[in-house]
Amino acid sequence: MKIIKCKNYEEMSVKAAEIFAQQINEKPDSVLGLATGSTPLGLYAELIKMYNDGKIDFSKCVSLNLDEYSPIAYDNDQSYHYFMNENLFKHVNISESNFPSEDDPKAYDALAEELGGIDIQLLGIGENGHIGFNEPGDVLIAPTHMTGLTESTIKANARFFESEDDVPKAAITMGIATIMKAKKVVLMASGAKKRDAVMKILADNIDPQCPATILKAHPDVILICDEEAID
Ligand code: F6R
Repeated sequence: MKIIKCKNYEEMSVKAAEIFAQQINEKPDSVLGLATGSTPLGLYAELIKMYNDGKIDFSKCVSLNLDEYSPIAYDNDQSYHYFMNENLFKHVNISESNFPSEDDPKAYDALAEELGGIDIQLLGIGENGHIGFNEPGDVLIAPTHMTGLTESTIKANARFFESEDDVPKAAITMGIATIMKAKKVVLMASGAKKRDAVMKILADNIDPQCPATILKAHPDVILICDEEAID
């Protein structure tokens, strides 16, 4: 795992944007695996800037989003459809964006295969070590699937809703195998709340109680974090 330790969130966002821009410039028809949450907002703002400056062209790119709440209407402003559209897609010339759907999770993995696999997968990390909505548990679930959200995740995500009760209790997420098949993974972690999870990735064995530790077994992971998230 390559580690890029940045001074702050701004520097992290620029570094991550450089990696995505390089990927897209080298392979214009890249399949991008994209995440939501607070962490990638700066990265998406940088990518939009690069696009406006003519430094990056998304026209041949396809995106496969990491996850989505379930059930949720796509025009709900807390849906991941809405988030991605507002924070990236509507500002750039991306050709196609796909989200996992509860109707047929298996079709999502088949689509990833048909597209030749995910070239670059972006991940944030939960305070509990989740990636996507692969929550801590006794086992890691391989394919894209529907899952319940843990108390910790519901609490962490309540900041986006009027109350904790409004947070959907389930989501559909790329599975661990779907993520691990990506050719390159960029994992971003910002802030002291992520430090425990990050330190587990670096120190411990692979442990389904901290799903992000599986990334130790991936051959091409770049961890980008700020000083608060790592020793
Ligand atoms: C988002 C996702 C989640 C987040 C994680 C960190 O699509 O799948 O795993 O990456 O919960 O969220 P933030 O970035 O809000 O701290």
